[in-house]
Amino acid sequence: MSDKQVDSVRRTWLIASSCAGAAGGLAVAVPFVSTFQPSERARAAGASVEVDIAALKPGEKITVEWRGKPVWIIRRTPEQLAALPKIDPLLADPSSLRKPGELTPAYARNEHRSIKPEIMVAVGICTHLGCSPSDKFVPGAQPSLPDDWAGGFLCACHGSTFDMAGRVYKNKPAPDNLEVPPHTYLSDTKLLIGEDKQA
Ligand code: FES
Repeated sequence: MSDKQVDSVRRTWLIASSCAGAAGGLAVAVPFVSTFQPSERARAAGASVEVDIAALKPGEKITVEWRGKPVWIIRRTPEQLAALPKIDPLLADPSSLRKPGELTPAYARNEHRSIKPEIMVAVGICTHLGCSPSDKFVPGAQPSLPDDWAGGFLCACHGSTFDMAGRVYKNKPAPDNLEVPPHTYLSDTKLLIGEDKQA
């Protein structure tokens, strides 16, 4: 990715963040800024980010920022996990074989694309032109999605769809699966985004 593309990706995410902040109201935005401001320079430079996922319930998602990018952490339900192998034939790269060094670390090159089956960690930036896809976790027919939708993400910019492991569906503008960033577990409930265990 060129510097120009990275800038464009960051801009898209910043715009999305601003919108989310506005929706959440000023009372939420102010403490967020004062809490995280001191580490802003370090984070922009690529520092890893520690995340406590103890309170994350099945079916819930949290987003953290790493290197200026949104990283999604989702605790998948047993039903969401069970759906993954069934949709392999509909996916462009079901086994995450493309660009493995760039998109899927070795420890996530499995059916669920994760270290722990239930916890999905992925960069929430579409591999087409850098929009941030929306959550479409509820299965079934709904606007812009097929009737047999199994749950996942829709990038409304040009219609790319991804499953609950960030794998892209076939014949969509996005060429690749969502990136799984380097990450490791510091404990059962603490994740470190930005570093592999071996690092
Ligand atoms: S940016 Fe996602 S489909 Fe084009």
